[in-house]
Amino acid sequence: MHTNHDVSANAAKYLELEDKFGAHNYHPIPVVLEKGEGVFLFDVDGKRYFDFLSGYSAVNQGHCHPAIVKTLQEQAARLTLTSRAFHNNLLGEYEAYISAYFGYDKVLPMNTGVEGGETAIKLARRWGYNVKGIEENKAKIIFAEGNFWGRTLAAISSSTDPSSFKGFGPYMPGFELVPYNDLTALENQLKDANVAAFMVEPIQGEAGVVLPDDGYLKGVRDLCTKYNVLFIADEIQTGLARTGKMLACDHEGVRPDILILGKALSGGTLPISAVLADDIVMMQIKPGEHGSTYGGNPLACAVAIKSLEVLKSEKMAENAEAMGVLLRAELEKLNSPFIKLVRGRGLLNAIVINHKDPEVSWELCLHLRDLGLLAKPTHGDKIRFAPPLIITESQIKEAVSIIGEALKRLS
Ligand SMILES: Cc1ncc(COP(=O)(O)O)c(C=O)c1O
Repeated sequence: MHTNHDVSANAAKYLELEDKFGAHNYHPIPVVLEKGEGVFLFDVDGKRYFDFLSGYSAVNQGHCHPAIVKTLQEQAARLTLTSRAFHNNLLGEYEAYISAYFGYDKVLPMNTGVEGGETAIKLARRWGYNVKGIEENKAKIIFAEGNFWGRTLAAISSSTDPSSFKGFGPYMPGFELVPYNDLTALENQLKDANVAAFMVEPIQGEAGVVLPDDGYLKGVRDLCTKYNVLFIADEIQTGLARTGKMLACDHEGVRPDILILGKALSGGTLPISAVLADDIVMMQIKPGEHGSTYGGNPLACAVAIKSLEVLKSEKMAENAEAMGVLLRAELEKLNSPFIKLVRGRGLLNAIVINHKDPEVSWELCLHLRDLGLLAKPTHGDKIRFAPPLIITESQIKEAVSIIGEALKRLS
């Protein structure tokens, strides 16, 4: 580690504790945070940073959004968990609210994003057997190369990233891959009558904000309809106003058969995920066949309603769209020899670094940290820039000047 990137003695205590007692399954930027407010994070020494990761897009509404926190506190003091062994007074209200919000018959509430993915695949397999008529245990689910949907054994079974799957086999059968953004290859796969679903991110987030060509999602929708295959959209990272529309699928006006949401469904306060579908899909799972102790708990229901409400009432999609245009334009204006490419939609953006040393993006993130902006490399040479959706024009400009300054420190 370079000396100019060392942390304070105070911060070092926290790093040592994690290093000694925590599993080493992450490699964080060395900064220890203790407070969040809107687009800012504060470390244990009181230093302020722009948050350009937003908890991997869980904090779209901004850190500690006052209305979400108020709802969280009030509901936490009243009732938090009943389990689904009993009914609670908020579940039905939440289910009605989110189903109408996204235009589906029903919702199945879960907690983490990866559980949402698992749920969608179970629903698709059931639909494949009961409705499409696939022979028992023969159902196939197609995924796009470069996908990321979490860390369970099913999720890593569909991964093309060795750091996700290597050494964790054996893997889930019935999963197949197709190149992302390739409708011809997809069509060839969908001709197989055993295919129940195609699960895809409208923009691949963890892969480095990889945007498909215009028309891809529309093409996916048409092919899935043509071959009687369910279109599952993983909007866990792209959804909830992040890309400048409520859903990334809205950019092409397509409606998936199964929609998976997570992350910002709680504004970063709790793990809340949701799977939405119409009755023909949702009703294939019967009582006792799927669930989760915490899924649909009253605290989550209250928080999710409020988190969805503020996205609309504070026009966060509109702001994400406008600020995204500004952010990309300002980044282009830097004219840095170290930026190969600026790409993104709304406030889901990335730069691709142009440098012979692949470690330089880590180095750049350390310079950014020193200058007061937090971001993290993904897949080596890409750095995602995804601030909370409440960011203002002057904050974007200030943040980009920090990025420009950090780029100047590279050699
Ligand atoms: C597109 C996508 N799907 C699923 C997940 C998994 O969500 P979780 O980490 O809450 O399980 C992620 C997390 O980064 C994601 O980006």
